[in-house]
Amino acid sequence: MAKKLWGGRFSKKTDPLVEEFTKSIQYDQKLAKCDLIGSRIHVKILEKSGYLKPKEVSLLYNALLSIAHSINSGKFKIDGKCEDIHTNIQNILYTKVGDLALKLHTARSRNDQVVFATKLYCKLNISELRDNIAKLINSVIGITEKNKDIIIPGFTHLQHAQPVYLKDYLWAYVEMSERDSERLDYISKNIKITMGAGALAGTPIDAVEYNLKAIEALSEIKDFNKVFNIQPTSNSLDSVSDRDFVIEIVSALSIVAMHLSRLAEDLIIWSTKEFDFVEIDEAFCTGSSLMPQKKNADVLELVRGYAGRLYGNLVSVLTMMKGLPLTYNRDMQLDKEPLFNSFEIVSSELKVLAGLIKTLKFNRAKIEEHLKDEGLYATDIVYYLVDKKVPFKEAHTIVGKLVKYSLDNNIEIKAMPEGLLKKFSGKLVKKEVVKLFDPLVSVKSKKSIKR
Ligand code: ARG
Repeated sequence: MAKKLWGGRFSKKTDPLVEEFTKSIQYDQKLAKCDLIGSRIHVKILEKSGYLKPKEVSLLYNALLSIAHSINSGKFKIDGKCEDIHTNIQNILYTKVGDLALKLHTARSRNDQVVFATKLYCKLNISELRDNIAKLINSVIGITEKNKDIIIPGFTHLQHAQPVYLKDYLWAYVEMSERDSERLDYISKNIKITMGAGALAGTPIDAVEYNLKAIEALSEIKDFNKVFNIQPTSNSLDSVSDRDFVIEIVSALSIVAMHLSRLAEDLIIWSTKEFDFVEIDEAFCTGSSLMPQKKNADVLELVRGYAGRLYGNLVSVLTMMKGLPLTYNRDMQLDKEPLFNSFEIVSSELKVLAGLIKTLKFNRAKIEEHLKDEGLYATDIVYYLVDKKVPFKEAHTIVGKLVKYSLDNNIEIKAMPEGLLKKFSGKLVKKEVVKLFDPLVSVKSKKSIKR
C-alpha cells in the first residue's frame, strides 16, 4: 500500500479490506488539477505567513507545477494504491522534494482541501456545461430557421389541441435551456471558494491575512484568476461540512436532464409511423438484431432513461447529508460519484442531442395530413362566434354540439350546408366558417405571443 497522510498513532497495519473499502482514488482522481491549484495557493500563503522560506517555496511551487504539467500532457500516472488523489499528489511531491513535501500540510487538512478542489471543479465544469447548453440552443434555433413556415398540431394531454408553429414548439426548449443555463450560472456564482478552515477549527493564520495572501497568490496563477475568488472561511465548521453546492448542482442538472428527456420523448413520438412528423438521421439511430426493418431512436430513449439516473444521484447526495453531525464525516466522500456522474451524463446528452437535432428532417406532407383534423379549429369557431357577440361559454357549447354532430354523423363541418349550421347558431355563416379551417389563419389569429 502507498504511504498514507496519517498513521503515527497506529501500531497495526490497516486491513487490506479497509484500504480497499475506504479509498476514493478511483473517482476523485478527477480533482487532481484543482487540488494542485489549491496547493500552489497554499504554498504562497505559507510563505507569506512565515512558515516557508523563499527557497522552499520555489522548490515546492515548481514541483507542484511540474506535476500539473504532467497531468496536462497525459503523463501523470495515478497510483491506484493511494487512499485518494490528495495522498497520491503528496506522495509524488515527496519523490520530487523529499522531506520538504511534509511542510505543505502546515495549516491545512484534507477536509478543507477536498471542499476547495470540489468547488473549483464544479465552477470549471459548470462553465463547460453552459457552453454545451449554448451549442444545443444553437442547434435547435438552426432547425427552427430551416423549417420556420411549418405549422403542426399542438397538443394538450397528447390530444390534438390547436395548430402552432413548429418553431414556437421547439423554442419552448430554447426557453427551458436558457433557464437551465442561468440557473447553473447563478449556482456557480454563489459558490464561495473558501480556504483556511483546517480540519474544522481554523488554522493559526489570521483570516484577513489569509484572504489577502490568497488573492495575491491567485493573481500569480493567471490561468485561473478569472474563474473564481477565494474567501477566507467565515465559519470553519460549516466550510468543511457544507455540501449544499453539490446538492444544488445535482439538482440543477436533474432539471436539465428532465428537460432533455421531454425533448427526447417528443422526438420519439414524432418519429413513429403513427405520427411521422420527423425523420431522425440514420447516423443517430440503431437497428434490431432480429427485425431487419427497424430503425430505432435509442439515443433519445437513453436520454429519457438517464433522467432517472440523475434523480437517483440527487436523492443519494440529499440522503447522504441528512443525518450527519457536524463537521466532516467520511460519508461525504460519497458525494463525488453522483456529482461527477451527473456532469458527465448531462454533458454527453447535450452533445449528442445537438448533433441529432441538426439532422432532423420534417415531413411536411404527413404533417399537413394531420392538420386536416377539423377538431384543431374548433376553438377558432368559438372565437369567431365571440367576435359576433356570442358569450364565450355559449359559443363553447354551440361548437361542442357542432363537433359532436359532425363525429356522430360522419360529416365534416366544412361540408355542412348553411341551413344545418344555422341550427346550431344563426350567427354561423358557411362561407366564413370554411375559411377558419386553415392552419395559417389559425396561428395568425393568435396575437399574445411575440414572433
Ligand atoms: N478522500 C476523502 C474525501 O474525499 C478525504 C478526506 C478524508 N478526511 C478525513 N478526515 N479522513 O472525503
